[in-house]
Amino acid sequence: MNVMNRNRRQLTVLDLLGRSGDTRTRTPRGARTHESKPDVQDRTNGSDRSVQAWTNGSDRSVHVHTLATKDVSVLYGDHRALQGASLAFDAGTVTALIGPSGCGKSTYLRSLNLMNREVPGCTVEGSILYHGQEVNDGSVDSFALRRHVGMVFQQPNPFRMSIYDNVAFAPKRHGVKGKQDLDELVEKSLRDAALWDEVKDKLATSALALSGGQQQRLCIARAMALRPDVLLMDEPCSALDPIATLAIEDTVRSLAAQGICVAMVTHNMQQAARVSDKCAFFYLGELVETAPTQGFFDNPRDPRTQDYLSGRVG
Ligand SMILES: Nc1ncnc2c1ncn2[C@@H]1O[C@H](COP(=O)(O)OP(=O)(O)OP(=O)(O)O)[C@@H](O)[C@H]1O
Ligand SMILES: [Mg+2]
Repeated sequence: MNVMNRNRRQLTVLDLLGRSGDTRTRTPRGARTHESKPDVQDRTNGSDRSVQAWTNGSDRSVHVHTLATKDVSVLYGDHRALQGASLAFDAGTVTALIGPSGCGKSTYLRSLNLMNREVPGCTVEGSILYHGQEVNDGSVDSFALRRHVGMVFQQPNPFRMSIYDNVAFAPKRHGVKGKQDLDELVEKSLRDAALWDEVKDKLATSALALSGGQQQRLCIARAMALRPDVLLMDEPCSALDPIATLAIEDTVRSLAAQGICVAMVTHNMQQAARVSDKCAFFYLGELVETAPTQGFFDNPRDPRTQDYLSGRVG
């Protein structure tokens, strides 16, 4: 049963982690950083137009976020699904995007790697900055951006091919040719996704023979094969059992420890409390509140967040 329905009172972060707190160790952050700005200017004029950092609140330091949005609105035809969302994402952190069904979480997540461009009738307004560079002005090739901003979906969707080929597929298309280079990349990516030990002796077998949790980690490995510095995850555990879910959560923390910037949609409040550094609450197409995870659960500011966390709405 969902914790929201079970507890009709305000939840604290300790409730969500279990009264005694989480016994699992959170992976330390920052083992790898991504200081350099990846090249996403395949079709740009090469100008670096923005170094302004944006957040939802008053923080306007000179720090350039890995990814940031300012006043992003998304329309499907005339329907405004998201209104004016401003949020920043940094290397080595996990941001949980939460809120009731239909509030615009997936819509927002898809705007971050320009996937809404492929949705007929969809318009994305506002500013999306990748390492300070505007990418929502038509100047950036969305496929080039997606090399750096990978995505994992709700349902594991491995290709109908071997485990090895699933991971090697995108790097091959992007020009990695040598067998040794590919072997190393496949191993590294499968290790990133905490799947290597389970599959290293059967790389040639079909990916479809893996369990659901293994398939989802394979999809993470597939995304990591392009060495992205941002990973977007849309409810990556919703089709998984609790053990597979914990394996994914550990993987997410270890990616963050390597310096990857993770944005993850989840309906699972315990998961948000366990895995994220920061939470962003969406409600009826609005980004209502953003806060560090502990403060978010222990002391939400907005009445709508309080109502959602206490189970009164949603
Ligand atoms: N391709 C689309 N065409 C038209 N409307 C859409 C499309 N995708 C989403 N919407 C609408 O946009 C709004 C936000 O949808 P979205 O999928 O982003 O919500 P969500 O918060 O991810 O919900 P859930 O938790 O159920 O996944 C909803 O009203 C939805 O019907
Ligand atoms: Mg969704």
